[in-house]
Amino acid sequence: MKTAVPLTILAVLTFGQAAQTPERLTADLTVRADQPKATINRNIYGHFAEHLGRLVYDGIWVGESSPIPNTRGMRNDVVSALKNLNIPVLRWPGGCFADEYHWRDGIGPREQRPKRLNTNWGGVVETNVFGTHEFMDLVDQIGAAPFISMNVGTGTPQEMKDWVEYITSSDDSELANLRRKNGRAEPWKLPYVGVGNETWGCGGNMRPEVYADQYRHFATFVKNQSGNRITKIAVGASDANYTWTDVMMAQVGQRMQGLSLHYYTLPTGNWSKKGPATGFTEADWLATLQRTLRMDEFIRKHSDVMDKYDPDKRVGLMVDEWGTWYDVEPGTRESALYQQNSLRDAIVAAVNLNIFHQHADRVQMAAIAQVVNVLQAVILTQGPKMVLTPTYHVFEMYKVHQGATSIPVDLASPEYRLGQSAIPALHASASKDAAGAYHVSIVNLDPTRAAQVTMKVAGASPKAITGRVLTAPAMDAINAFDRPPAVAPAPFTAFQAQGGQVTLTLPSKSVVVLELK
Ligand code: AHR
Repeated sequence: MKTAVPLTILAVLTFGQAAQTPERLTADLTVRADQPKATINRNIYGHFAEHLGRLVYDGIWVGESSPIPNTRGMRNDVVSALKNLNIPVLRWPGGCFADEYHWRDGIGPREQRPKRLNTNWGGVVETNVFGTHEFMDLVDQIGAAPFISMNVGTGTPQEMKDWVEYITSSDDSELANLRRKNGRAEPWKLPYVGVGNETWGCGGNMRPEVYADQYRHFATFVKNQSGNRITKIAVGASDANYTWTDVMMAQVGQRMQGLSLHYYTLPTGNWSKKGPATGFTEADWLATLQRTLRMDEFIRKHSDVMDKYDPDKRVGLMVDEWGTWYDVEPGTRESALYQQNSLRDAIVAAVNLNIFHQHADRVQMAAIAQVVNVLQAVILTQGPKMVLTPTYHVFEMYKVHQGATSIPVDLASPEYRLGQSAIPALHASASKDAAGAYHVSIVNLDPTRAAQVTMKVAGASPKAITGRVLTAPAMDAINAFDRPPAVAPAPFTAFQAQGGQVTLTLPSKSVVVLELK
């Protein structure tokens, strides 16, 4: 945040950042400071790192002898950028990869680790050079907590039990001693364990009744030891599969602390032709945002099912895979899932984070897919070069909401319409942090019209306002390796305060984060 502008003397501020379109949207927004809700669990700002494409190898791990500056093999540029996001939790090693991953392959001297085929992602050779110790070092370097998705599909309860003991035991046991022999004297803390991944699909194609029993079986052997406490996360539904949620809640209930939800945003909704990451039409823009807005419906309806069995909301809904999924970049390997990231992705990220804030009572964790070089990545790399994507900037601007109290907003949004399709043009969320500051995040989904928003705060009288805005001239503006960033946050000054209300002018296709003190 830059210099705060006192609300009382904001008589004349320019509307210089507003798009000069003939028509302007108008809306009223009330921040209900008088109705504070649940705490926004900072874990909804989580990320996901799978052994897939160039995520782990290239994107994070370059090896100790690489000319790319690194710390114990982890590239310094990426680590430092990730650290800046205050990432609370990182999920690893998959994804589909997790259900074919055997943890013993990834410990001990690196040159002796077995090479396996990564059958889910192009059959490429997995060297296992990046294993448990490397992952734990990574989360330590970026300051995140580890979330390990363990193998149910091709693993055993014994293997799962042993992995947990290897990581967390401080005893004089064979597995704890093996960890010591491999260079780690102290046990690590392992707060989150996923019991399988997408067991309705790549994780075993199970029926929910079968997985519910599998979960009960495997999870029995995921034990708290040496003072470590594990939040166990069961595989939940994809999209609108409410039956899965119902069966899991009925048959597993409080044996799990979290139930996952996966939902990807495809512009077309068609897995065989998803649509390009850039060079899309306005119709594609609207369709993408319309589909991403469905996250709210999915969370609401899964929550309704969960409420039947768990009215006290002890089981968290963990949206541990979400984000855009496009056709891969031309010239890149299909199975590597490398896609560009544009201003459209920034809007998608902001809308989804707003939705998570609004459901802070039930959504306790989320992980955008995936952290570097895969799907809706916050970072892209090319050899020694790195760019921060538009999605990165949303996570950075929004980090002020982490751990804050969710504050409802009343927003009567105008419509953004194109042809027969229409969505709300504006989307917002708010929170109050521990120091008493309010943060209001507003997204203008309309790609051509600026929005004039009249904002009031009910139940509080902040004295000063500052803000930042993320926008660009083109819907598909990206940050490229060889050019200065086209999409980066700038100070937001297009507002005026008078008589207890603030009039904001949001540029078209923008994300604005305000701080009110
Ligand atoms: O994120 C890519 C893949 O999407 C994951 O491996 C899988 O869980 C999901 O289907």
